[in-house]
Amino acid sequence: MKELDLSTLAARAGEIAPEDGNRALIEPIHQTTVYTFDDLDHLERFQSGSERGHIYYRNGNPNRDTLERALAALEGTQDAMTAASGMAAISAVFLALVKPGERILADNRVYGVTYSLLAEELPKLGIHTDWVDANDLDAVRAAMTPDTKLVHAESLTNPLVTVADVPRLAQIAHEGGALLSIDNTFASPAVLKPASLGADVVTHSVSKYLNGHSTALGGVILGSGEIVAKCRAHLTRYGGTMSAFDAWMTLQGVKTLGLRMRAHSGNASAVADVLENHPRVKAVYYPGLTSHPQFDLAHDLMPNGFGGMMALEVEDAPAFVRALKGKIPLAPSLADVATTLSYPWGTSHRALPEQRRMELGITPGLLRLSVGIEEIGDLLDDLEGALV
Ligand SMILES: Cc1ncc(COP(=O)(O)O)c(C=O)c1O
Repeated sequence: MKELDLSTLAARAGEIAPEDGNRALIEPIHQTTVYTFDDLDHLERFQSGSERGHIYYRNGNPNRDTLERALAALEGTQDAMTAASGMAAISAVFLALVKPGERILADNRVYGVTYSLLAEELPKLGIHTDWVDANDLDAVRAAMTPDTKLVHAESLTNPLVTVADVPRLAQIAHEGGALLSIDNTFASPAVLKPASLGADVVTHSVSKYLNGHSTALGGVILGSGEIVAKCRAHLTRYGGTMSAFDAWMTLQGVKTLGLRMRAHSGNASAVADVLENHPRVKAVYYPGLTSHPQFDLAHDLMPNGFGGMMALEVEDAPAFVRALKGKIPLAPSLADVATTLSYPWGTSHRALPEQRRMELGITPGLLRLSVGIEEIGDLLDDLEGALV
């Protein structure tokens, strides 16, 4: 049977399971903490797994089920488990798949809070992390130890949008007996599908492109049935599961993912071209530019466009931010339909020591642009107008 395009799968996401007997086109929000059973036989059939259903909100909810089915279809994985936030998803992956005494090998450019989780929280539980430049594949190979059980990187990094060589990282991880975990938040499955390239577990902060409208907080873990089951058990016990409302809001966003990502990628490419040639812009970091160090890799891994994220260094960052006020807001998140600007030095990477930030190229003059889906002429007028 012909495979459906991601845009089709996304637009049709959220079919209600027929056995629910529910004829609504859009699934209503199931705002209940508990479910009833006819009798003890019914309860037993549910508990033993012979009959589907729900028992308690923290364990599962129809809105979460629907979103999980949709996201697994988009990423092309067997199963998915939603979480209360991207960090709840990432911490569940680390804690469910790595035991005390085992090690994680992580890219040294991961999101600042992932960095603090690995550097400050997990050592308290006996899980230690080795740090590596994941773009240096020889260094990754050399950093693997017999205790390394998980390699973790971001498909596109924050904020310089470097591209992870997922197929090669998967090969190195697997040869060393480890799993590869990829945070795909900056790309979305419309831009890059790490599981199809060899990653064993994929996470997202769904608060970003999957929701796309800055209205929901959540996370998701995607992978094989076995890996997701481990993370599901962990998340249910630790309690970081997603609310029905956030699941419902996220699903509304998911329906337009294909359309939005085409527009984000198209606008970002146009903005990157213009800014790269602007005399007041010192540098632009965007994987769709031939000047980007991983342009060839990006071209191979992202056939449908390079996403909406870029970073730029301008001559006078404070003046640029001031001049954009009222047009492009300074808002420390990303992936909204409207363009936003953020300041990695003072927000996402604030937790990193100053010297570390400088080594990673995160300077006080660097701004991150999350390019939205506005009419491109309006967007360019605003950006160029702030660079005079
Ligand atoms: C790449 C990346 N991963 C994970 C997260 C954490 O997600 P959340 O804020 O939903 O916990 C973020 C948040 O900005 C992020 O940028």
